Amino acid sequence: MSVEGLQPSQSQEVEATSPLSKGTAAQVQEESADLLPEDVMNLLRGVVDPELGSNLVELGMARGVQILPDGVVHVEVALTTSGCPLRAQIQRDVKARLESLPDITKVKIIWSELTAGEKAAAMAKARWNVAQKAPDTSIPATTKVLMIASGKGGVGKSSVATNLAAALANNGFAVGVMDADIWGYSVPRMLGLEGSLRSEDGKIIPISQAVGSGRLDVVSMGFLVDREDTALMWRGLMLNRAVQHFCEDVVWSDDLAYLVIDMPPGTGDVQMGLARMLPRAEMIIVTTPAKAAQKVAARVADMGRKNFLRIVGIIENMSELFTPDGKSLNVFGVGGGQQLAREVGVPLLGRIPLDTAVSDGCDRGQPAALLTAGTADTADLESNTTPAFFAPTDTESTPLSDAASASSAAAMSTPTTATAAFQWIARQLSEEYVPPVMMEGCSARMLDAVISALDAAETEGLD
Ligand SMILES: Nc1ncnc2c1ncn2[C@@H]1O[C@H](COP(=O)(O)OP(=O)(O)O)[C@@H](O)[C@H]1O
Ligand SMILES: [Mg+2]
Repeated sequence: MSVEGLQPSQSQEVEATSPLSKGTAAQVQEESADLLPEDVMNLLRGVVDPELGSNLVELGMARGVQILPDGVVHVEVALTTSGCPLRAQIQRDVKARLESLPDITKVKIIWSELTAGEKAAAMAKARWNVAQKAPDTSIPATTKVLMIASGKGGVGKSSVATNLAAALANNGFAVGVMDADIWGYSVPRMLGLEGSLRSEDGKIIPISQAVGSGRLDVVSMGFLVDREDTALMWRGLMLNRAVQHFCEDVVWSDDLAYLVIDMPPGTGDVQMGLARMLPRAEMIIVTTPAKAAQKVAARVADMGRKNFLRIVGIIENMSELFTPDGKSLNVFGVGGGQQLAREVGVPLLGRIPLDTAVSDGCDRGQPAALLTAGTADTADLESNTTPAFFAPTDTESTPLSDAASASSAAAMSTPTTATAAFQWIARQLSEEYVPPVMMEGCSARMLDAVISALDAAETEGLD
């Protein structure tokens, strides 16, 4: 978008002499050879203004980037109004995106305000997106997209995807589940859902199921074929476009807070296609404690980074097996999740024990995350205190937010039940790592933006 007459910033924090306010998209100092401002701008394409439905770069809201020594990055973000209620949301998203790169140690956002002309252009862009160009996907701009990925199959990716989705729904969110593992779909069975996807006006209606105070809306190849053997033929026919249909032609409802995508294992065409279709997606990588699993998992992280996706963190599955007499067995080795988290430079989100509640639950269509096990672990969850298993053991007291850092997560032990682990991770996701988009109080801003856009369009003939 080219905006003429870019004014010096109206930010309270930055004077007009700021290097960021001079109108070039990106500037860099010699000291940081590796990280380029273009990389930062590309990452910012993953931050969507939930109200305008377009990303910060496209809307001209990401005004400038400055890379300082030691990985400190300053970003100038121009809002439609300085009192924008989504400011906190945008701040969180920008920081989360950028800080997911190990090269970036600190992010400072310098706020400014779009000029009337820029505002009009941003609104025009948003309207154009809505009216003239079919939106890139049918997934609402306010939906947080979580890709559950792994280097190889059998590590529990689908189990983690379905259990986290169920736990989030149980906590009151409307959660979409997209089974993108076209070859080896397992989501319907794991969630105990049957049926066929209906279509209305050429659009696919997901299978919907109330869970706790929330809801799951699910699409899977498993709902398009009735028998496993006919599935094979369908797959051949639809494979290339199935995931695209799931992104473009499904009626994903407006209130969807999360869309959890069960990715196929590895880094094939489907994964690349999804990453390109959904640049705003955030990736969670599932691995086992086995060191061998790590190399392939690291490749997935690499693919995510190359596509400028944010990697939220690592989940280690099948961590330990707790026997009834209180012993623990490291069936698949020790430390793989933690090591991968370090290598990729993201937090370890949690460890899930080997637990028959998961495998039984998957087979019976009753996710372990929805059990009330009544153990000490879940009692902690219910009483809203930090469960003992997630309290760092190497420091005296660490606040919850610090537990998000890779170093303190390293001290995390495995909860004794998978139920507790899933519930805890889901809560951490919605409260800390990937909070839902809050739209309350936004209509005022929208109205304001529309009025200024119309005013500006009238006076400047921009419409
Ligand atoms: N934490 C766990 N404890 C016990 N069984 C598990 C656990 N995680 C996964 N499983 C079982 O392992 C098998 C593979 O898991 P799945 O989620 O299908 O892996 P993926 O999707 O990565 O191929 C399934 O039978 C599942 O029930
Ligand atoms: Mg699977």
